[in-house]
Amino acid sequence: MMRLWINGRERHVVDFDPNDSLLEHIRAQPGLTGTKEGCASGDCGACTVIVRDLADPVLGGGAGPFVSLNSCITPLAAMADHQVLTVEGAAGIGRSAAGANRKLALDSLHPVQAAMVAHHGAQCGFCTPGFVMSLIGHQLAADAQLKDATRDDFVRAISGNLCRCTGYRSILSAAAAAAQATASAYRRPRDAVAALNDTPPINRPAAVVGSAVQFHRPRDEAALRQTVAGAAGDTPTFIAGATDLWLEVTQQCRELGPLIDVGRVAELRGAQCVDGRIRLGGAATHATLEAFFDVAGERPCPAIAALLRRFGSPQIRHRATIGGNIANASPVADWPPVLMALDAELELANAQGELRRLPMRSFHVGYKKTALRPGEYIRAVSFDAAIPLDALQALKITKRWEDDIASVLGAFRIEVADGVFKVARVAFGGVAATPLALPQVEAELEGHLVGSAAVDAAAARLREALEPITDVRASREYRLDMAERTLRKAIHRAASGAEQGLEGFTA
Ligand SMILES: Cc1cc2nc3c(=O)[nH]c(=O)nc-3n(C[C@H](O)[C@H](O)[C@H](O)COP(=O)(O)OP(=O)(O)OC[C@H]3O[C@@H](n4cnc5c(N)ncnc54)[C@H](O)[C@@H]3O)c2cc1C
Ligand code: FES
Ligand code: FES
Repeated sequence: MMRLWINGRERHVVDFDPNDSLLEHIRAQPGLTGTKEGCASGDCGACTVIVRDLADPVLGGGAGPFVSLNSCITPLAAMADHQVLTVEGAAGIGRSAAGANRKLALDSLHPVQAAMVAHHGAQCGFCTPGFVMSLIGHQLAADAQLKDATRDDFVRAISGNLCRCTGYRSILSAAAAAAQATASAYRRPRDAVAALNDTPPINRPAAVVGSAVQFHRPRDEAALRQTVAGAAGDTPTFIAGATDLWLEVTQQCRELGPLIDVGRVAELRGAQCVDGRIRLGGAATHATLEAFFDVAGERPCPAIAALLRRFGSPQIRHRATIGGNIANASPVADWPPVLMALDAELELANAQGELRRLPMRSFHVGYKKTALRPGEYIRAVSFDAAIPLDALQALKITKRWEDDIASVLGAFRIEVADGVFKVARVAFGGVAATPLALPQVEAELEGHLVGSAAVDAAAARLREALEPITDVRASREYRLDMAERTLRKAIHRAASGAEQGLEGFTA
């Protein structure tokens, strides 16, 4: 049994399978088929809804922020104790925001919906509910700053939504008009949505029990350890944002379970600077990390901030965690090469509370294979806080700028002083069966004079070490070329940034 609220209405879900997605549940409700299924893999945004946790463990059980997500790859069970807003409910906010009726009403449009009509933002309309919800999600996040939102903000807000017939110009015009309409109609978009549901914070037992398998939702690490210990015989699978794992359900028709959701565990969700190290919790979402590494965040890092802006879409970043990115062991995941370049260390834990530290460079042991032992989970990943983050570069090659997986990703930490490469860290994704650190390339640079000789030697070692494959994203030759070009570019940037006008150096 589990409980959630959809458009302000409390629903008790008694008989469900933990392999059900939020989208399946929503669309099975009478009158709630506005939320669409396009791809069932998080790519098109047609299924976008807005949710908030009404009993967020990080906030001591208080209500968390409103975030957009892809309901097609969100487990229904993960949404227990959540408020869910669909495109039908959004119409009710338009009405309540104007003060006419604070209860849900479906006969008036939200300013975003009205602007989409006025600016001809829909043709076939299949994508439209998703665009509407992404733009409302952006309004909620921008909140009091909404009136200052720019075209770039709107482009980013809809970067996880695809439209095949309208054309984005009219959708962007609608976004701009809606932002002004909302900002002038009611100052705080969040207040309007909150009016849908005045439910007080709620505390619930950790386990949501389904008809077939269990979906455990521990709130803290003690409960997580207890759950892992109790489930030892059943080989539980950890799940966090589900943005990788759920594709096995929707694309490969696999039945998962039992599942342990680490995504709510308070101790695993933060990012902070502690004891001279930057420590990122295993269940920290990419939205949390984006705020942390942003120019206005606790630890600004231009390279990571830029990479995170291109990581999936806002919907994906709200759910996807760094621990999931690492543990999924994809050779094209964004974080592993970056963390290798930072000499990061993983903190792994088990049911008994035993901790094990492992260098990031030793974690991936084969294609989709990691050094994790049964029942062990990623508690955190950390790196030395003294590392100058300005020296980090992450060059991601994709077909599409946002919401695309890398064909090749090169991560570099190259420090130059007195005409010598003082530090050289080089790691790649997309060029072998695992993310790859390249000590042989680093050795050709570190301690050597900056110049063509060192760069050419490093490039030669790079080509020898890589074993890329040809697949739908890119050919073997393209990957090799891109790897070499990104290496040369990173070295050139580091050298010319450190010492302008360096003699004898060619990129
Ligand atoms: C549309 C779309 C766009 C994407 N874009 C990108 C992108 O730009 N760059 C990129 O790198 N990836 C991208 N991804 C992949 C995915 O979003 C990331 O890999 C994400 O970080 C996975 O995190 P998650 O919390 O969703 O993991 P989940 O799917 O919940 O889990 C993934 C795996 O990790 C395990 N796991 C999760 N947490 C832990 C833990 N703490 N300890 C041990 N095991 C754990 C699970 O058992 C599972 O095997 C994209 C995915 C989609 C669907
Ligand atoms: S249906 Fe395409 S993102 Fe969910
Ligand atoms: S209006 Fe047809 S896909 Fe967008």
